[in-house]
Amino acid sequence: MSRRIDIVEVGPRDGLQNDPADLTVDQKLEFISRLEEAGVKRMESGSFVSPKAVPKMADSPAVFAGVDRSRSTRHIALALNEKGVRRAIDAKADEINFVLVAGETFGRKNQGMSPQESADMLAQCAPLALEAGIPLSATISVAFGDPYDGDVDIKVVGNLAAQAQRAGVGELALGDTIGVATPWDVRARIDRVRMEAPDVFLRMHFHDTRGAGLANVAAAVDAGVDVIDASCGGIGGCPFAPAATGNVATEDVVYMLERAGFETGLDLGKLIDTAHWLETALGHPVASSLSKAGGFPPA
Ligand code: COA
Ligand code: ZN
Repeated sequence: MSRRIDIVEVGPRDGLQNDPADLTVDQKLEFISRLEEAGVKRMESGSFVSPKAVPKMADSPAVFAGVDRSRSTRHIALALNEKGVRRAIDAKADEINFVLVAGETFGRKNQGMSPQESADMLAQCAPLALEAGIPLSATISVAFGDPYDGDVDIKVVGNLAAQAQRAGVGELALGDTIGVATPWDVRARIDRVRMEAPDVFLRMHFHDTRGAGLANVAAAVDAGVDVIDASCGGIGGCPFAPAATGNVATEDVVYMLERAGFETGLDLGKLIDTAHWLETALGHPVASSLSKAGGFPPA
């Protein structure tokens, strides 16, 4: 049997939070439903952050209220502080993904916290999610580099991972928020995190800002990681990262992995159709390669 790689679709959150277009709640729900039709089983459907900081996610409670709960999709809510975790619980999130930060200046600008303060905040918030019976994951943002401070020490990443494990996080993503990772650095950071936090499952979150996104996915899969974040169309980015661009595109990742013999459970044709639908909804082209070239061999 071929190896299974699970994709966490982050388009409705990471993708839309920084797009110039303002989608209505109904359009967001249509996006989510199209992704479900394409086979997506886990997705970041919104974030519970300050609406002043990220206005595009202000309607996340309405999005969570509107999703079709009869499907088996796990809707993940992003949270960065206690208020966010409480709001995510109220919205009946199936999972909560907490954001740790590995860079000092980015941490200040994105969430008003240093790396250690973000770990302390996680320790404070984790019991709320766990007592509510909601699985808790975390992403270490700017785990490969901070847009203001430059390189991020691998020790900081390892230390945050250890604290996440102690807080009860079941799955941890290393986030390349600004797209500066290389495949070799990916391997080194995965090895480090496995040493410091051996009990957490690893997930990787890459942005394709500097062209190494798919190579980094391949390196992570070679290193044994089974869960990859991606956004349909390759839309998105962080509003607090200068020159931010989108995540690796779901359809590009699915094409690469399936062509190499891995199984993702996703329907490439429906993903490409959704990327084209997005271009109309957003009013601009999307970045993915497969939405332009189509799959191979021809269907
Ligand atoms: N949801 C909604 N509102 C929130 C909130 C949350 N999770 N957390 C704080 N707020 C509100 C407070 O109620 C307060 O409102 P007021 O000005 O009307 O009184 C205001 O935000 C400031 O609260 P404070 O606790 O002082 O937060 P802060 O100013 O230090 O900001 C964050 C911290 C985390 C709330 C803010 O930086 C943020 O939302 N960042 C999001 C960044 C993001 O999503 N990046 C992309 C994904 S990683
Ligand atoms: Zn991201």
